[in-house]
Amino acid sequence: MSDTKATYDAVLAALEGRKSVRGYRPEPIPRPRLEALLAAAQRAPSWCNIQPWRVWVTSPPMTGRLREAVLAAARSGLPGPDLPFPMDYPEPYLAHRRAGHALYGAMGIERQDKARRYDAWLRNYELFDAPHVAVVTRDRRLGEYATLDVGVWLGVLITAAATLAIDLCPMAALAAYPQPLRQLLAIPDEHVVLFGIALGSEDPSVPANACRTGRDPLASNVTFVD
Ligand SMILES: Cc1cc2nc3c(=O)[nH]c(=O)nc-3n(C[C@H](O)[C@H](O)[C@H](O)COP(=O)(O)O)c2cc1C
Repeated sequence: MSDTKATYDAVLAALEGRKSVRGYRPEPIPRPRLEALLAAAQRAPSWCNIQPWRVWVTSPPMTGRLREAVLAAARSGLPGPDLPFPMDYPEPYLAHRRAGHALYGAMGIERQDKARRYDAWLRNYELFDAPHVAVVTRDRRLGEYATLDVGVWLGVLITAAATLAIDLCPMAALAAYPQPLRQLLAIPDEHVVLFGIALGSEDPSVPANACRTGRDPLASNVTFVD
């Protein structure tokens, strides 16, 4: 019983302490640690155990090449994600999204300052200076539930990273420009690009990393029915 409590406390502390990191130090993560993280996420459950996540993980110098290619695409082209991005958020989701603009606050950017907001958005395509990026795809022939499976994988990866003190930021923004990713990483056409993940160690001096997000009380999301 006490072991269970200790495990619970450790996982809860890791989850409470984690955040999306949007500025990294240049040092790569040693390969055994990267493999330990991905091996933990590999334990993720999926519908009928189909394990649909496919993951391409870059290290330097490939991360730098990828960064240049996606940055050029983001600067010059219209987005063309494989899966349509959400356009409108009804309430109460819109209010949460606005609260997400705490990021701009942490970066000292006013809501009306379009130029600096554009620069902040481009930081996604600079990969937040992370030494590694994971590009995550699934086979096009699988349906929506396979995307759910990949989401479960992401949740397990995020939890494992928090316990291993590896920093990351999921980046749906990368999926807006799948073409350079396909080309550089030789991602087959029958795969849809779902999102990227920046991986590395936090640079605490980057202002964006001061951003903290809140969560609603349980009753907003969960209904207990007795
Ligand atoms: C599927 C997914 C896609 C995301 N895409 C981006 C992204 O493109 N850029 C970004 O800066 N953050 C992205 N995030 C991070 C969210 O903004 C972040 O998880 C949320 O605001 C809660 O903050 P926290 O992770 O610090 O707890 C993404 C998160 C998820 C789960």
